Amino acid sequence: MADIAFTVNGKKQSVDVTPDMPLLWVLRDVIGLTGTKFGCGIAQCGACTVHLDGEAVRSCITAIAGCEGKSVTTIEGLSATSSHPLQKAWIELDVPQCGYCQSGQIMSAAALLKEKPSPTDKDIDDTMSGHICRCGTYNRIRSAIHLAASSGVKGGAK
Ligand code: FES
Ligand code: FES
Repeated sequence: MADIAFTVNGKKQSVDVTPDMPLLWVLRDVIGLTGTKFGCGIAQCGACTVHLDGEAVRSCITAIAGCEGKSVTTIEGLSATSSHPLQKAWIELDVPQCGYCQSGQIMSAAALLKEKPSPTDKDIDDTMSGHICRCGTYNRIRSAIHLAASSGVKGGAK
């Protein structure tokens, strides 16, 4: 076990866990932030995506030791009131069905818009292709990213 200090959604955290524990388990089981989902556990579905120092990462394969001193943003921290333009676009276009994959999808989309505020369809497909949605919401996700981009979103946490 080791004390590992890092920041989650702007709040300092110190966790006493084994250094190889995945960030996903620390977020869900130690800190209690369950918005980030477990899908495959092997970096194949995208459900567990969060930001680590602003970059989208798969938290299921990110050891907590690698988060020491860094800043993590989860879906709960993307905006204080679910008012991030991506969240508003998701609601406006009724994107989710079961919802399970959606927090990971939104976190990847936020990282994309931070890097490319006006993404093309190809930019979106290249970024989002690693996300699996069993409900097949892919077309609405693409439309929602364009809608958020048209509102001038810069991505990232607010
Ligand atoms: S749970 Fe991490 S990519 Fe599937
Ligand atoms: S909305 Fe159900 S898995 Fe994507």
